Amino acid sequence: MMKFEKMSTPITIGNMVVKNRFVVPPMGNNFANTDGTMSEQSVAYYSARAAGGFGLITLEATVVHPGAKGGPRKPCLYDDAFVPSFKAVIDACHAHGAKVSIQLQNAGPDGNAKNAGAPIEAASAIANKCGKDIPVAVPTARVYELAQGYGEAAKRAMAAGADAVEIHMAHGYLVSSFISPRTNKRVDEFGGSFENRMRFPRLIVDAVKKAVGDKVAIIARINGADDMPGGIDVHDAATIAAELEAMGVQGLHVSRAVHLKDEFMWAPTQTHAGFNAEQAAEIKRAVSIPIITVGRYTEPQYAELMVREGRADLVAFGRQSLADPELPNKALAGKLSDLTPCIACLQGCVANMFKGEPICCLTNPALGYESQNISPASTAKRVLVAGGGVGGLYAAFLCAQRGHSVTLYEASDTLGGNMRLAAFPPGKGDLTNMVRSAIVKCQKTGVQILLNTPLTMDEIKAENPDAVIVATGATTLMLPIPGIDAPEILHGGDVLAGTVAAGKKVLVVGGGMVGCETAAFLGERGHDVTVVEFRDTCGADVINEHRVYLMEDFRNYRIGQVTSAKVVAFYTDGVDYDSPDGSRHTLRGYDSVVLSMGYRNYDPLSADLEAAGIPHYTIGDATRARRALDATREAYDTALEI
Ligand SMILES: Cc1cc2nc3c(=O)[nH]c(=O)nc-3n(C[C@H](O)[C@H](O)[C@H](O)COP(=O)(O)O)c2cc1C
Ligand code: SF4
Repeated sequence: MMKFEKMSTPITIGNMVVKNRFVVPPMGNNFANTDGTMSEQSVAYYSARAAGGFGLITLEATVVHPGAKGGPRKPCLYDDAFVPSFKAVIDACHAHGAKVSIQLQNAGPDGNAKNAGAPIEAASAIANKCGKDIPVAVPTARVYELAQGYGEAAKRAMAAGADAVEIHMAHGYLVSSFISPRTNKRVDEFGGSFENRMRFPRLIVDAVKKAVGDKVAIIARINGADDMPGGIDVHDAATIAAELEAMGVQGLHVSRAVHLKDEFMWAPTQTHAGFNAEQAAEIKRAVSIPIITVGRYTEPQYAELMVREGRADLVAFGRQSLADPELPNKALAGKLSDLTPCIACLQGCVANMFKGEPICCLTNPALGYESQNISPASTAKRVLVAGGGVGGLYAAFLCAQRGHSVTLYEASDTLGGNMRLAAFPPGKGDLTNMVRSAIVKCQKTGVQILLNTPLTMDEIKAENPDAVIVATGATTLMLPIPGIDAPEILHGGDVLAGTVAAGKKVLVVGGGMVGCETAAFLGERGHDVTVVEFRDTCGADVINEHRVYLMEDFRNYRIGQVTSAKVVAFYTDGVDYDSPDGSRHTLRGYDSVVLSMGYRNYDPLSADLEAAGIPHYTIGDATRARRALDATREAYDTALEI
C-alpha cells in the first residue's frame, strides 16, 4: 500500500511553510453572508478541512473591486469592513496547523451586472457565451486602477492573517481575458504582443508585492490551457508561468479551461486523476517556483506520483475535499477504506454554486452542516431500514453513528440499488466507490445487514422498533401503453445488471439519462442501437459536463436517435409512435426492445406503517423518483431527527 511520503512532506512557497502537499483549491460555496462577509458556516466549513489535515486551504474567489460582486453570496475584500470575518476563518484554520490563501478575483466577463449593480468588464467587449451580457472593454486608465484594487485587497488579506494570496488569472475571468488573445483584441498598451497582454498581470503583481512585501506569499492561478481554438495552449501557459515567476510570483496553481469547456474545469466521472498532469509538468519545467496541480484527484495515489516524479509540488483536491474533509488524515493514517469519495456527479456542488445557493454534496450530506455534528442521540433506539440502496445505506450508518441499533433489510442479494447499476455505463465506474464506501460505513458502525430479506409488516411487528425508515427506492415506470408489459420487453436495469441479454439490433425506449446511458453501454459492446425519446433531445436531463461525453459515445457508437416521438404501442420487435403533428410512425425489426422510460417510487410499507401507528420515515425515491442527492440528504435529516 502506498505510503504518501511525498504528499506528507512540508514545502515552502515564498515565506510560507506548508506542512504537506494537500491543498484545498478555491471553491465558491455560497456560505458567505449576503453583505460580503464570511459567515459562521464559512468558518465551520473551512476549519473542518483544516482539521482534516489539508496543509494549504484556499478561500474561495473573493471580490476585489466594488461593482464586481457577481453573486449574492460572494465574499468581498474591497473594504476594510470585511477583514474581521476573514480573520475568523483564518484563525480557525490556523488552529489546526493549516496555512490559508485567499483567491483574489474579478469575474470580469463572467460576472453578473444585475447582481453587481455595475456593468461587467473585460479586456474587450466580447460576451463569454450566448445569453451573457456583453462586457464593457475596460478603458485604458481604468486598467491601472483595477490593478491597484488587487493590491488593496491583498493588504486586507494580510490584515486578516492570510499566509498567501492567489491572484485569479484563469478561467476566462478578468485577468484571463487580458492574457488570452482569444478574448483580448485591444490596440492600446494592453493588447497585441505577449508583453502587452501580460501588462495587466504585471501591474497586479507589482501592486500586490508593494502591499504585502514578503509577508504574504504570492500565488497566481493560471490556465494550463483555455481548451478553446486560438486560446491559451500549454506552451503559452508555460511562457506565462515563466513571465509570472520573473515578476515575483512565488507559486503557481495550474487550473484549466474557460466556462465554455466546463468539462475540463470540473471534470465529470469518466475523467480520472492526472488528466491535467502533462500541463502541470510542462509548466513545472518552465519555472523553479512550486506548482500546484488540480483536476479530479480523489484517492491520492496518483497525486503521490505527481510529486514523487517532480511533475508538480502540491496537489489540490477540489470536490474530493467537499466529499471528505478528512482526506489527508485518512490517507496518511492508511485509512483510505474510510474515504467518502467524490464521484464527480456535479449534482450538488457546481449546480448550487451557479444557482447562488449554498453548495451541497451527494456523497457527503454533512457538507454545509459542519457545525451540526452527528452527535449521539439522547436515547438509543431500535431502527429498521427497508432498502439497501444508497438512501437506505446512508440512513443506516448515520443512525448507527448516533448510537441507534440498526438493522437494514435488502430484498435482493446485493446492496447499492440503482446507484450500483448506474456505475455500469461507460465512464461511470467510480459510482461503485460511493456504494462501497457506504457499505463499509455500515459495517464499521455495526449495522446488521440482511440480504435477500424484504422487510415485511410481520417482521416489523415482531421487532417492535422505535422507527422504520422506508428507503425501498424506485421501480421501472410502466406507462399504460399496449404491449409494454410483454415478457419479451427487456428492462434497462436488467440489461445493465447482466441478468438479461439484448440482441444485436436494439431499440431503447426512453432517451432520458438512464435510457441514453443504457444505449451507450450497449453501443460500447457493439450492439446496433437506436433510442426513441418523447422530448426533442436525447439526454436533456443529463448535466452538461456529463452530456458532452455521453453524446461523444452516441457519435462513436453511431447510436440512432428518434426524438419528439410519443410511443403508443410496444411490440416484441419495436414500437409505434406519434409525432407532434399527429402522424403515426413505426419502428420495427429490432432483436430486442429495452424499456427505459424512467422510474416510479416503490413503497410497499408506508401506508401500512401509518395505519399501524408505527413511527416511520419515507426517504429518497420511495417518496418520488428523484436524484440520489435527495436520498442522501433525506437520510441525513432523518438520522438527525430519530
Ligand atoms: C463548487 C465549486 C466552486 C468553484 N469555485 C472556484 C473558484 O471560486 N475559483 C476558482 O478558481 N475555481 C473554482 N472552482 C474550480 C476548483 O478550484 C477546481 O479547479 C476544480 O473543481 C477541479 O478540481 P477537482 O476536480 O478536484 O474538483 C470551483 C469548483 C467547484 C466544484
Ligand atoms: S456533489 Fe458530486 S461532484 Fe460535487 S463534490 Fe459531491 S460527489 Fe463530488
